[in-house]
Amino acid sequence: MSLLRRLEGNGPPPRSSTSVTEQEKKEGEKPALQPTATLVATPPPSKDKSKELKLKVQERLLKEMSPQSDAKDSEKIKERIREILDQILEEGGVLMGRSDKEKQLEVLIADIVGLGPIEPLLSDESVSEVMIVGPDRVFVERRGKLVLTGIKFEDNDHIKQIIERIIAPLGRRCDESSPYVDARLKDGSRVHAIIPPLALDGPTVTIRKFSSKPLQVEDLIKFGSMTPEIGEFLRACVMARLNIIVSGGTGSGKTTLLNVLSSFIPPDERIITCEDAAELQLQQEHWVRLETRKPNIEGKGAVTIRDLVINTLRMRPDRVVIGECRGGEALDMIQAMNTGHDGSLTTLHANTPRDALGRLEVMSMMSGMDIPLSALRKQIASAVHLMVQQQRLHDGSRKITYITEVQGMEGDAVILQDIFKFEQDSIDAETGKIIGGMRPTGLRPSFMNKIHEAGIELSADIFTRK
Ligand SMILES: Nc1ncnc2c1ncn2[C@@H]1O[C@H](COP(=O)(O)OP(=O)(O)OP(=O)(O)O)[C@@H](O)[C@H]1O
Ligand SMILES: [Mg+2]
Repeated sequence: MSLLRRLEGNGPPPRSSTSVTEQEKKEGEKPALQPTATLVATPPPSKDKSKELKLKVQERLLKEMSPQSDAKDSEKIKERIREILDQILEEGGVLMGRSDKEKQLEVLIADIVGLGPIEPLLSDESVSEVMIVGPDRVFVERRGKLVLTGIKFEDNDHIKQIIERIIAPLGRRCDESSPYVDARLKDGSRVHAIIPPLALDGPTVTIRKFSSKPLQVEDLIKFGSMTPEIGEFLRACVMARLNIIVSGGTGSGKTTLLNVLSSFIPPDERIITCEDAAELQLQQEHWVRLETRKPNIEGKGAVTIRDLVINTLRMRPDRVVIGECRGGEALDMIQAMNTGHDGSLTTLHANTPRDALGRLEVMSMMSGMDIPLSALRKQIASAVHLMVQQQRLHDGSRKITYITEVQGMEGDAVILQDIFKFEQDSIDAETGKIIGGMRPTGLRPSFMNKIHEAGIELSADIFTRK
C-alpha cells in the first residue's frame, strides 16, 4: 500500500478542540486508571494540540507526496516530517524546547509511518506482549507479569488506523462486516485485533512479540523452567523418536518449548513444520516450513493445518512438527504417528496431561471420520509416548509442571504415569516467588528400551527420588 493511501486513510477529519463527542463523554465517566509507567509523555502540547499538529503535518506531507511513494522511503519521509514540523512551529511562532520537540517528532513519526503510541513498546526488549484495550488502556507483559502502561490513544479511530496499517499490506480488512482479524507484523510478531461492536470497550489488539533470538534449552534451565536433568531426558526422548505432545494454557510457553524440543532433532533428518503463523525457529539445515492460509475476502482459498499435515505425509518427512493442534488434524497426526512417522511433535491447549488426552479425542472426532471412541482411544494410546505440561504459575514464571508417559490401555482407560512433577514447597513472602522444584516421581518410563536402542546413555539416577 502506498504511503499516500495510508496517509489519506489516516484519521478522522479534524474536530474542534471544544467539541465533546459521545466517546469522550464515555471516557470521562470511566474510573481513573493508575498507570505504572508513562512512556509517551509529551506534556506540552496537549492531546488536542498534538492531534492538530499531526493533522497539519500529514496534510502538508500528503500534498507533496506522489501516489507511488512507499513506506520504503521512510528515512526520507522522517526527514521531511522533521522539516515540516520546523516550518509549522516557525509559522505559528511557537517556541518548543529541544527535548519536547524531539519527543513530539518521535510521536509524529510513530503515528505517520509506524504503529503510533505503541511503537516504543515494540522496540522494548523487556516487553513480550502488548495488549490494547480501547484508547485508554494499554497493557504489557514484562517478565511474565501484566502491567498497565500510561500510553493512550487519541480515540477508537486512532487504534483502528494502527490496525489498518498492520493488515492493509496483507490484503486483509477489519471492519463491521469482518470485525476481527489475525495478522503478523513485518518482524513476525503475531497480531490479533477485534473491534466494536464485538469488543465492547473499543478496538482491542493483542500483539505477541516475536523474539529474533528464541529461548534455548539453556535459557529455560536458567529461568528455572526445567532442570539440566530434564533437559537431558527430553533430548534423549526426541533423539529416540518418541512422539511428544506439549500441552498447556494460553501463553504458557508451549511454542517456546516445542522449539526447544525441535532443536534436539539430529541435523541429518528432514524436518517439516506446519503452523498457523510461522513462529518456530530451527537451526537445522534441512527444514521445510509450511504455513496455513486464511480465506480471501470472498471467503475462498483457505488452507488449513489439516491440509498441510496431509501434504506433509507425501513429502518424505523424517519428522513432522505441528505448531498447534486445534481440530481434525489431530486424527491425521495420530494416524501418522502410528504409521511410521514417529518422532512427531506438537502442542495443544489443555490444563493437565489427562485433559490433553481428552482434547486429542475430541479434536480427532472433529475430523468427521466415523471411528468408535474405543478404537480412537487405542490409537491415541499407542501413538503418543510422552506428554509435557507447561504452565504459567501465579508468580508469572513459566515452568514444566508434568512429564507424563502414556503407557497404554487397561480396559477402556488410557494409563498415564508421571515421571517428573513440579512440587511447590512454599512462596517467598517478600518476592511472591514460588519455591519448589521439578522432581522425579521415582518411576522409570517403560520406553527406556527405545532410548537404549537409539544408542543414548541416560543415567538411571535421574529417575531416583532424592
Ligand atoms: N520458560 C519460559 N520462561 C520465560 N518466558 C517464557 C518461557 N517460555 C515462553 N516464554 C515467553 O512467554 C511468551 C509466550 O510463549 P509461547 O508463545 O511459547 O506461549 P504459547 O503457550 O505457545 O502461547 P499461545 O497459547 O498464545 O500459542 C513468549 O513471550 C515467550 O518468550
Ligand atoms: Mg503457541
